[in-house]
Amino acid sequence: MLISQIVAMASNRVIGDKGKIPWKIPGEQKMFKEITMGHAMIMGRKTYEAIGRALPGRTNIVVTRQKDYKAPDCLVVHDLDSALESCPSEENEAFIIGGGQIYDETMSSTDRVYLTVLPREVPGDTYFPEFSESEFNVIKSDFIDAVVPYHFYIYERKNGD
Ligand SMILES: NC(=O)c1ccc[n+]([C@@H]2O[C@H](COP(=O)([O-])OP(=O)(O)OC[C@H]3O[C@@H](n4cnc5c(N)ncnc54)[C@H](OP(=O)(O)O)[C@@H]3O)[C@@H](O)[C@H]2O)c1
Repeated sequence: MLISQIVAMASNRVIGDKGKIPWKIPGEQKMFKEITMGHAMIMGRKTYEAIGRALPGRTNIVVTRQKDYKAPDCLVVHDLDSALESCPSEENEAFIIGGGQIYDETMSSTDRVYLTVLPREVPGDTYFPEFSESEFNVIKSDFIDAVVPYHFYIYERKNGD
């Protein structure tokens, strides 16, 4: 099973502010939906609360250390190994959908990164971790010249790394 991260960040690596994503990029949510539909999604408890509900058509897995945490229509697990073990056995690509803590903790085992970059700095309090780009090939690099323009990249870990 591939482990993929999917994230949108500003040029200063900000991904969140006060528990929310501090921008709206028309079309980007649709792309997120298309990429993740039918797959397992692993998220930190704070990201789950930012979304506020289970996203339909996907296995929603919420990671928390709180033993009695309830998240309707989600699988609740208490460590990252259990999160990966909770993915359906037929899953071929599980998505780490944030936030900052979970991206950081899973980066070393990540095979693919779907990265949206907003080409401007945005103030915030949560960041996407630096990762060793030399360990990855860029297999897609697009500039989307929309109302809110953005770059979209797919990084894939080089074989043998
Ligand atoms: N721009 C984007 O693409 C994007 C995507 C996702 C999220 N975000 C933003 O990112 C921010 C949230 O990120 P964050 O870093 O603050 O929080 P987070 O990673 O979403 O969640 C952190 C929480 O996950 C749980 N957790 C983390 N590691 C764990 C482990 N190893 N075992 C068990 N539980 C673990 C803990 O929950 P407990 O405290 O309950 O124990 C921890 O407080 C929000 O602003 C959100 O909007 C942005």
